Amino acid sequence: MKETGTIAVIGQGYVGLPLALSFAMNGQNVIGVESNPEIRKNLASGRTLQNENWNGKSIETILKEQLESGRYRLSGDTVAAVREAETICLTVGIPVADGQPVLDSFHGACEQIGKGLQAGSLVLIRSTVIPGTSESYCVPLFEKLSGLKFGETLFVAYVPERIAEGSAFEEFRTMPTLIGSSDPQSREKAAEVICINSRSEMIFCHSAIEAETSKVLENLQRDTNIAIAQEFARFAEAAGMNAIDVIRLANTHPRVHMMEPGPGVGGYCIPNAFYYLAHKASELGVSLPIMKAARDLNDQMPNTIVSKTIELLAQAGKKPQESRVAVIGLGMKDYSPDDRLSPSVVICEQLAASGFEVRAYDPNVAKAYPYKVESIEKAVENVDALLILNKISKEFRPSEFFSLLKQPAVILDTRNLVQEKDLPADAVFWRI
Ligand SMILES: NC(=O)c1ccc[n+]([C@@H]2O[C@H](COP(=O)([O-])OP(=O)(O)OC[C@H]3O[C@@H](n4cnc5c(N)ncnc54)[C@H](O)[C@@H]3O)[C@@H](O)[C@H]2O)c1
Repeated sequence: MKETGTIAVIGQGYVGLPLALSFAMNGQNVIGVESNPEIRKNLASGRTLQNENWNGKSIETILKEQLESGRYRLSGDTVAAVREAETICLTVGIPVADGQPVLDSFHGACEQIGKGLQAGSLVLIRSTVIPGTSESYCVPLFEKLSGLKFGETLFVAYVPERIAEGSAFEEFRTMPTLIGSSDPQSREKAAEVICINSRSEMIFCHSAIEAETSKVLENLQRDTNIAIAQEFARFAEAAGMNAIDVIRLANTHPRVHMMEPGPGVGGYCIPNAFYYLAHKASELGVSLPIMKAARDLNDQMPNTIVSKTIELLAQAGKKPQESRVAVIGLGMKDYSPDDRLSPSVVICEQLAASGFEVRAYDPNVAKAYPYKVESIEKAVENVDALLILNKISKEFRPSEFFSLLKQPAVILDTRNLVQEKDLPADAVFWRI
């Protein structure tokens, strides 16, 4: 087993927690640093809402095991944890508000890291960032606060996190890892730490900004790909075809990887990527019209779904103030407990603001919402419209609940889960 001394993982969210536990499972002494006392308290008692598994164990089981082993412990004190650790992994994110990256938490975490650094410290920046952040912002700040010298007594690399929520433990092992730093020693030291968890390829980038930009580009590729699928879905609808069936046909070509349309694009990663690149692009005087159009289109999808619901209910002779709507799925994507920037949540809120009584069901999402109910039956019973926004479990078959809907039922299927032969006789049906 490789011995790297103590590893401090700053931020114990969707990335930081499974990352810290992976290091601990691989024999390392890990401090999970989390600024939110509520999250810390829950983690310290073995509780998390995350939905990850490894080797047949849930993340909660792994968390309890690693707490008991003493290899994983929690702290709210970043400076002290950084002082104690040889390696620091930064996983605090950069949210976006009104199209602008909000840097307060990320900058706050960097300042605390800078104050705790010791000669020989290695910092791996794993958050998704505005291109240029690691070596134009973090390194000078770390040098100033610690008095250390990058490449001599301080080592810093940008190592983008590429996992998908729900597959974190598996993907820490199998996902090829980019390691970006202009300092060769930093790249080598980073690789030694990464190979504790990873059995996959490591790709060295001779600057942090290349790795930072490639991470943003990966997310933007998915954003634009989904936007094309959304636009194509409108064409397929007008032409009387099932868009998802046609996309699957196109994907039988080995060089075509079209994604599927849906109710919008949520989560922390894909929607924010454009704004990170746009921030750098405006500094450089470059415009990004295609990526912007894609972002805007995906951003508009919840409005499209709400307008379609109102249109179909009107077709069925129903008014918003008299109608109840059931929404299946609140997570940012199928099966997800993560409801950050979730299109489903936007749709529920817009429907409620338009006068509908909304009842939403998603067993994966723990957060309480005024319109959330605890069973699918409670959600669908006697409603005028059913909106299928996410796959919520492998077993979920919407048609099993059609008889509970008020007839004539309005049914909107954004996940291609409904077969027309199963529809109630007089249903008003729309598929994305
Ligand atoms: N979620 C994913 O699947 C995923 C995948 C790849 C990359 N990323 C990127 O990884 C980063 C983290 O994403 P996430 O989903 O884990 O975010 P998250 O919000 O779940 O986790 C961040 C955690 O950091 C904590 N925090 C904030 N400031 C802190 C500080 N100063 N000290 C200690 N803790 C602090 C927050 O309370 C939060 O718990 C983001 O940049 C994101 O874009 C996420």
